[in-house]
Amino acid sequence: MKSRTMALTSVAAVVVAAGLVFQVQPAVDQTPVFGGPDDVTYAKALWTELEEARLVGDNPIHSYFYAGTEPHGFVLEIFDTELTVAEHTGRVMVKNNYGPEGVEPEAVSDDPGGHLAAVTVMFRREAGYDDDNKNWFWAKYLPNGELDKNPAGMQLAGRVAKGAEMGCIACHSAAPGDDYLYVTDRPD
Ligand code: HEC
Repeated sequence: MKSRTMALTSVAAVVVAAGLVFQVQPAVDQTPVFGGPDDVTYAKALWTELEEARLVGDNPIHSYFYAGTEPHGFVLEIFDTELTVAEHTGRVMVKNNYGPEGVEPEAVSDDPGGHLAAVTVMFRREAGYDDDNKNWFWAKYLPNGELDKNPAGMQLAGRVAKGAEMGCIACHSAAPGDDYLYVTDRPD
């Protein structure tokens, strides 16, 4: 009797364990690391605040244009400030990427809007958002505020592309100063 009860108990344990596996598996599959509905909604809220701060949109403030390299574009411009999105205030880095290949900073100064190719943004979110990567939210927008997509069709917003060998997080984790930023060393 005793051994039969034990056998039943271990069968039950296996069934419970299998149930857990089946329950956990779909949830993992359904939540993309980036580009999911929550990321897209957040990216829209971020764009709205950037427009409000006149860092993007119809009448943006411009700074000094300088020659850059791929992947970010041939002429670049960076803004570094604080922004409040969904009641959280954090540091924001906006990088405007201008083209086409071979364009000179002078030509971009004469017509910034006509040369803008993409807007890449890093926004430092609340603790717990992505502690592995200093809680940065990454987004790449087209000049009209729509999100750009990767070759697989995923929208570039959120933890882009956490765990992958290429992409925003992989490349920026190599930036000096432990802040994921190339232009500054301000870890906190
Ligand atoms: C292959 C490497 C690489 C990838 C991939 C990359 N970046 Fe960068 N990024 C850089 C470098 C290098 C700089 C600074 C130098 C420069 O271009 O002026 C930079 C600068 C920036 C800056 C200005 C702040 C800083 O770090 O100096 C922002 C914002 C930014 N990138 C956002 C992004 C986003 C968002 C993505 C993904 C959509 C991305 N980057 C993908 C290399 C990369």
